[in-house]
Amino acid sequence: MPSDTPDQRSALRERLRFLRAFLAHPRRMGALLPTTRAAVDAMLDLDGVEDAEVVLELGAGTGSHTRAILDRMGPSGHLIAVEIDPALAASVRAELADPRLEVVTGSAEDLHEILDDRVPDVIVSALPFTSLPSEVSARILDRAAQALPDHGCLLVLQYSPVVTRSLRRRFARVQRTVSPRNLPPAFLFACRRSRLANQADRAGPAEDDPSP
Ligand SMILES: C[S@@+](CC[C@H](N)C(=O)[O-])C[C@H]1O[C@@H](n2cnc3c(N)ncnc32)[C@H](O)[C@@H]1O
Repeated sequence: MPSDTPDQRSALRERLRFLRAFLAHPRRMGALLPTTRAAVDAMLDLDGVEDAEVVLELGAGTGSHTRAILDRMGPSGHLIAVEIDPALAASVRAELADPRLEVVTGSAEDLHEILDDRVPDVIVSALPFTSLPSEVSARILDRAAQALPDHGCLLVLQYSPVVTRSLRRRFARVQRTVSPRNLPPAFLFACRRSRLANQADRAGPAEDDPSP
């Protein structure tokens, strides 16, 4: 019987780390397994982290998005990845050592302090907005909307469309698509403060969400 490759062993270790964190903090993790690369790629296709100077990631987990953002980002880009769980933050820091990456152990609620005077072109979030306390989710969404410049974009991954209304209240343009290549299927949102944001056309198959 063929033995596992190093990549398969490392993927298995990542899943176990994620599952352990879920068992310790189910509502904070919001998922049993890390997001698949296919869903992460579909999400990042909705906006241009390739051209971004500053990307802010909220809820790095075991680094599924972090890794993919670094793969796409240019050499002068800077990625600030925020993770509340100190063990997960430490593992991302150790496994994805990259001069463009800064891993912050802390809460996305403090994103203004974390950004200091830096302005993110893109914010990427897989935070479980429906299982976090509602006041925490509201605070994070308010602060993310305030932190983005007019050309900026908030990318959100969720396992249900429930967050749609909260996004539409804060952003002039919300596009939504679904990635079936994840378990469970992932709802992906691209949210812009301006209806005329110049990167809207990148969104490809995503459609403006007409729901109330
Ligand atoms: C669904 S997981 C997503 C992890 C990873 N991005 C992925 O897609 O596989 C959500 C992550 O958000 C983190 N998290 C939850 N609340 C947070 C907060 N207030 N600030 C920062 N991270 C938080 C959790 O610890 C968890 O790692």
